[in-house]
Amino acid sequence: MRKPIIAGNWKMNGTIASGSILIEAFNSVLQDMELSCDVVVCPPFTAIERAVALTRDTAIAVGAQTMDYHDAGAFTGEISPLMLTEVGVNYVIIGHSERREYYGETDETVNAKIKSAFHHNLTPIVCVGESLEQRESGHTLDWITSQLKGALVDVPKEQVSQLIVAYEPIWAIGTGKTATADQAEEVCKEIRDYIRSLYDDETADAVRIQYGGSVKSENALEILGEPNIDGALVGGASLVVDEFIDIIKAANQIGA
Ligand code: PGA
Repeated sequence: MRKPIIAGNWKMNGTIASGSILIEAFNSVLQDMELSCDVVVCPPFTAIERAVALTRDTAIAVGAQTMDYHDAGAFTGEISPLMLTEVGVNYVIIGHSERREYYGETDETVNAKIKSAFHHNLTPIVCVGESLEQRESGHTLDWITSQLKGALVDVPKEQVSQLIVAYEPIWAIGTGKTATADQAEEVCKEIRDYIRSLYDDETADAVRIQYGGSVKSENALEILGEPNIDGALVGGASLVVDEFIDIIKAANQIGA
């Protein structure tokens, strides 16, 4: 059985101080829980080092929200995978729709970043998702498979089985509009089937697929209960202690 994974994407919110308070609050609840899911927090870069220190010897792992695919060089403003591993990061979100929309990420850069992440022992959380226009014009599944195809060029199956795909319909991110559990499951199943067609059963059955887009305590259990959904990438609700904890509890229930 695939272990559910809940990741909190803090985006460009908070400070080192507010992030520390959040993590300490998570720690105080999670330390008394037997966890049957993985938990990741992805703070802004400046708060990562503190987050790693505060989560040492806890069940929480730390991820970055993006990275460059080069190891070093003249790339002003970028952060390299070496810098992330140096501070103790284990996961990295790649190709979030906000990165694609505002910072020019493409399927090619996503592909390069996935390879670079694995090279440096970082687990990529690879985001795909359709716009409202694409959904309304019936192009959702074509679009998602084309994003995946581009993302996975020359990525070997041993790596694909380790990565995490986050299906995040753009129209559901930060809007309060969640995909229904059926809509989310339909696409997550398609993602798994497409990986099966590119690789094999073993790889498709191992890859963990998250849903993201306005996940909150009230819809988490229903979404996470779907057979092809193995967790959630959570934005807004990951900044609210009770919300994030309740989502983790829902995953724990499913994973138990
Ligand atoms: P949201 O964001 O939960 O605030 O909709 C999800 C995401 O962008 O990863």
